[in-house]
Amino acid sequence: MSEKNPEVRTRVVHVSAASRSYDVHVGAGVLGEVGAIARAAAGGSRCCVITETNVGPLYADAVEASLAAAGYGVAERLTFPAGEEHKTLATLGALLEGLAERELTRDDVVVALGGGVTGDMGGLAAALYLRGVRVVQVPTSLLAMVDSSVGGKTAVDLAAGKNLVGAFWQPAAVVADVRCLLTVPRDLLVDSVGEVVKHAVLADPALLGDLTGRPLVAGEPDEARLVDVVAKNVSIKRDVVDADERESGIRQTLNLGHTIGHAIEAASGFALGHGSCVAAGLSVVARASARAGWCPDDVADAIVRCVAAQGLPTGTDVPLDELMRYVAHDKKRHDDSVNLVVPERLGAARVRRVPLVDLGALVAHDLEGADL
Ligand SMILES: NC(=O)c1ccc[n+]([C@@H]2O[C@H](COP(=O)([O-])OP(=O)(O)OC[C@H]3O[C@@H](n4cnc5c(N)ncnc54)[C@H](O)[C@@H]3O)[C@@H](O)[C@H]2O)c1
Ligand SMILES: [Zn+2]
Repeated sequence: MSEKNPEVRTRVVHVSAASRSYDVHVGAGVLGEVGAIARAAAGGSRCCVITETNVGPLYADAVEASLAAAGYGVAERLTFPAGEEHKTLATLGALLEGLAERELTRDDVVVALGGGVTGDMGGLAAALYLRGVRVVQVPTSLLAMVDSSVGGKTAVDLAAGKNLVGAFWQPAAVVADVRCLLTVPRDLLVDSVGEVVKHAVLADPALLGDLTGRPLVAGEPDEARLVDVVAKNVSIKRDVVDADERESGIRQTLNLGHTIGHAIEAASGFALGHGSCVAAGLSVVARASARAGWCPDDVADAIVRCVAAQGLPTGTDVPLDELMRYVAHDKKRHDDSVNLVVPERLGAARVRRVPLVDLGALVAHDLEGADL
C-alpha cells in the first residue's frame, strides 16, 4: 500500500441525532473538500476557523483555501494555545470575543480544526455564540476522529474537574482526513488506539481480530485501513448513542474499561495517556469478569491479546488500595457499589452493579496474578 494511495474511497457515515442529522466523511485527502462539504451541509456566507497552535500551522491554510474555493468569505482564523490546560472558560471567552470581533452572524459557520480539545472548545463556542451557530468539525487526532466526532458533546474544564461545563451541540458535518494522522506524535497515536480496541470489544469482533493480527500504528501508514477503522469506530459509537435514545443506559457501555482506567489515570497524576489507561482498565476488567463468571475465559484472553498486540499496557502496578480509593471516588459510584461495564462476549457488554468489596477482591487477584 503506497503512503498516499489515491484509490482510497471516502466513507460517509450518517448520524441522526434528535436535534440534527449529519454526515461524517472519512477519507484520505478530504481536507481539500471541507469547503464543498460545509457548503452542502451548512450553507452560510462566511466561515471562521477555530484551531490551536500545533494544528493551525499544519492544516489551517489548506482548510481555508478549500473554504474560499467553495465561495465562503473566510474570516481571520482564531488560534488558541494547544493543550488540555487551555480547555478553560478563559479560552472559551477569548474565542467568543473573537467571533464577535469578526462580526460572525447567525448565518455563518464555525470550523473547528484540531484534536478533541479543539472539537470541544470550537463546538462549545459555536453552541453559545448568538445562542448557536453551525459548526463543521474537522478532527485531526485519532481520538477526535473515533470518539469525540460523534455524540455532540462539547465541554470545557473547571478547576474542580474535567468537562464540567458544556452543551450538546451537533455539528452540521464532520470531515476526518486520516492523512492528518501522519503528523500526530506516534506515542499519542498508539495511546488513542485504546479507545479503538474498546469500540471493537463492544461491537465488532471482526475488527478485534484484525487488530489482534496487526497493530494499527506500525510501519508505513496504511491509509485504506485507517479509513476503514475510523469509519467503523464512528459507526459503532453512532449505533451505541442511537440505541441509547431508545433504551436508556446503553451509552454507559462506552465506559467499558473506564472505571479502572480513570483510577489508573488519576493515580498516575494524569502522566499516563487516557487511551493507555483505558486499555489497562479494559484488560483488568476482562480478567476480573472471567474470574467472576460474567464472561468466558476466551473472551477475556481475546481482549487482553488485542490490547497487547497494539503495544498498550495490559495491567497496572498501582497498589490495590490506592486503585480502589480512586475507584470509590468515581462518579459512577452509587453508595458502596459501582456501575461496572463488563464484557459478556465479543461484541457485547453490559452494566453490572458491583459492590466495591467484590470488585476489590476480583482485582486483587488480578494484580497478584498478572504478569506485569
Ligand atoms: N466531546 C466528546 O465527546 C469527547 C470525547 C472524547 C474526548 N474528548 C476530549 O478530547 C480531548 C482529548 O483529545 P485529543 O487527544 O485529540 O487531545 P488534543 O486536542 O489536546 O490533541 C492532542 C495533541 O495532539 C496535537 N495534535 C492534534 N492533531 C494533530 C495533528 N494532526 N498533527 C500534529 N499534532 C496534532 C494537539 O496539538 C495536542 O498537542 C480531551 O479534552 C477530552 O476531554 C471529548
Ligand atoms: Zn475515554
